[in-house]
Amino acid sequence: MSLKKIFLFIVAISTVSLLLHQGGHWNWSMQAFKDIGCPSLRSHPAPGLKPKHTNVAFLKTHKTASSTMQNILFRFAESNNLTVALPVMPCGHQFCYPRTFVSHFVHHHTLPPNIVTNHMRFNKAELRRMMPNDTIYITILREPGSMFESLFGYYTQYCQSFKRVPNNSLEAFLEEPERYYRAAEQDSMYARNTLTFDLGGDKDRPAKDVEYAQEFVAQVEHMFSLVMISEHFDESLVLLRHLLSWDLEDILYVKLNMRTSSSKRSLTPGLSEKIRAWNSLDAQLYDHFNASLWRQLSVLGLACVAREVLHLQQAQERLMKSCFGVQTPLLRSAGQIKNKDLRPWQPSGKVGIVGYDLPNNVSQRLSSQEQDLCLKLVMPELQYTKVLLSSQSQRYRRSYQHRTTQLSRPFHQTVRATPPRNPQVQRSQPPPNAAPNPASGTGSTTTSKPAVGTQGATAKIGPKSSQTPAS
Ligand SMILES: *[C@@H]1O[C@H](CO)[C@@H](O)[C@H](O)[C@H]1NC(C)=O
Ligand SMILES: *[C@@H]1O[C@H](CO)[C@@H](O)[C@H](O)[C@H]1NC(C)=O
Ligand SMILES: *[C@@H]1O[C@H](CO)[C@@H](O)[C@H](O)[C@H]1NC(C)=O
Ligand SMILES: *[C@@H]1O[C@H](CO)[C@@H](O)[C@H](O)[C@H]1NC(C)=O
Ligand SMILES: *[C@@H]1O[C@H](CO)[C@@H](O)[C@H](O)[C@H]1NC(C)=O
Ligand SMILES: *[C@@H]1O[C@H](CO)[C@@H](O)[C@H](O)[C@H]1NC(C)=O
Repeated sequence: MSLKKIFLFIVAISTVSLLLHQGGHWNWSMQAFKDIGCPSLRSHPAPGLKPKHTNVAFLKTHKTASSTMQNILFRFAESNNLTVALPVMPCGHQFCYPRTFVSHFVHHHTLPPNIVTNHMRFNKAELRRMMPNDTIYITILREPGSMFESLFGYYTQYCQSFKRVPNNSLEAFLEEPERYYRAAEQDSMYARNTLTFDLGGDKDRPAKDVEYAQEFVAQVEHMFSLVMISEHFDESLVLLRHLLSWDLEDILYVKLNMRTSSSKRSLTPGLSEKIRAWNSLDAQLYDHFNASLWRQLSVLGLACVAREVLHLQQAQERLMKSCFGVQTPLLRSAGQIKNKDLRPWQPSGKVGIVGYDLPNNVSQRLSSQEQDLCLKLVMPELQYTKVLLSSQSQRYRRSYQHRTTQLSRPFHQTVRATPPRNPQVQRSQPPPNAAPNPASGTGSTTTSKPAVGTQGATAKIGPKSSQTPAS
């Protein structure tokens, strides 16, 4: 009897010690077990993997981490030789926001595009005409409370509705928004239902028009394959990666266009409710799409999503270490950043937007390709837009010259070659400042057959367009 007890005791001890010793292995097996059933993280090209999807329209909304998303798309475009639709000069770095997008706002050197991501007010029909027919539409929303606080701080000196408020007080604005807000003003979209406005909706529809709100949510749902949520950015990126069959490397990022913590205010109790009431259309959009994001995530499996987020964060840390020598690069004010290509635009003296610098002693050890990646990772949107326009214009000119040389062979007068990037459009396109007259066709085939770039050419691009950088 006592022998049996001793025997059992010994067995128990050995089992525990075996488990302890094999702990690492046990953990490893558990990990492997947990990974079963999760989609794999292999890199392209691999047999059996769907090719990466390259045609993407990202509606960049304001103050929603969309600059970070735009940077991801810019880098993806560069590394895959894709064309990004970019604004013509008079539009600034936005497609003449807040005016509704027309393809006439797009620089002809960047047509036909694979990707569009600069700020615009959404116009479904116009984008459908410009983009390839298999384009995937994506956008991003942010929780209305923190978003409005951010808008109020960022545009406090640009938006008339905010400038009228005594003492710059968010509380005072929300106490009587109608007193300061003027719907008809050029910049009023920063002061009410900004997301709805960016998505092409009617920001001033009264909250009691329930039918409109529901219909608008349904429209957005129908148009966009993925609506990301800023508060769940990494999880949204996981969905994006699956939707587009991209690799983990394609979604690495550094947070861009952030305010200094001293520019941020925390919301006092009750303020969030007031913001939601004032921006009720945005609040409904947010609630609907946050719920649908989490539904999509549970279809993927929350454990698999968590694992992928972990992989993403680990890969990001490795990248930071190679670019900056540390896992979390120091945030610097614009004045502290030595490389002027990396200085973020500052909205006002009251709000500081921080950025990054690349330490020389680290980047010297990298190849020029690696250095370029590090630089682009932290390049603010204004500078990156300029860099891209210049490189795409060069490519456009090269391919145009190439075609012209080919055309100057015998029979060129009878053979109608397909233009490389629609040079007819280029020539028939009026200068952006002039109001084009669609009736004054040249009689060439381009006028009878509408082409990208001439559609919607009735819009004028004038100095009215807002030139305020925004994210
Ligand atoms: C088990 O594995 C996870 C993930 O790889 C790791 O974070 C954790 O530290 C491991 N635990 C032990 C006890 O080794
Ligand atoms: C992009 O173009 C460059 C030069 O034209 C070429 O070397 C590279 O392989 C291309 N990359 C891809 C992904 O097509
Ligand atoms: C997209 O356009 C291509 C040619 O431009 C056509 O062959 C294809 O059928 C179209 N696909 C859809 C889904 O409309
Ligand atoms: C403005 O702010 C100052 C200090 O924050 C405060 O003392 C003053 O009462 C405020 N004025 C109004 C009109 O709210
Ligand atoms: C989004 O929805 C999820 C799931 O319902 C919830 O846990 C989360 O708190 C929501 N996020 C925000 C910012 O409201
Ligand atoms: C680079 O220089 C900074 C100070 O200028 C120093 O703190 C850092 O350790 C250096 N990093 C490397 C990898 O030499």
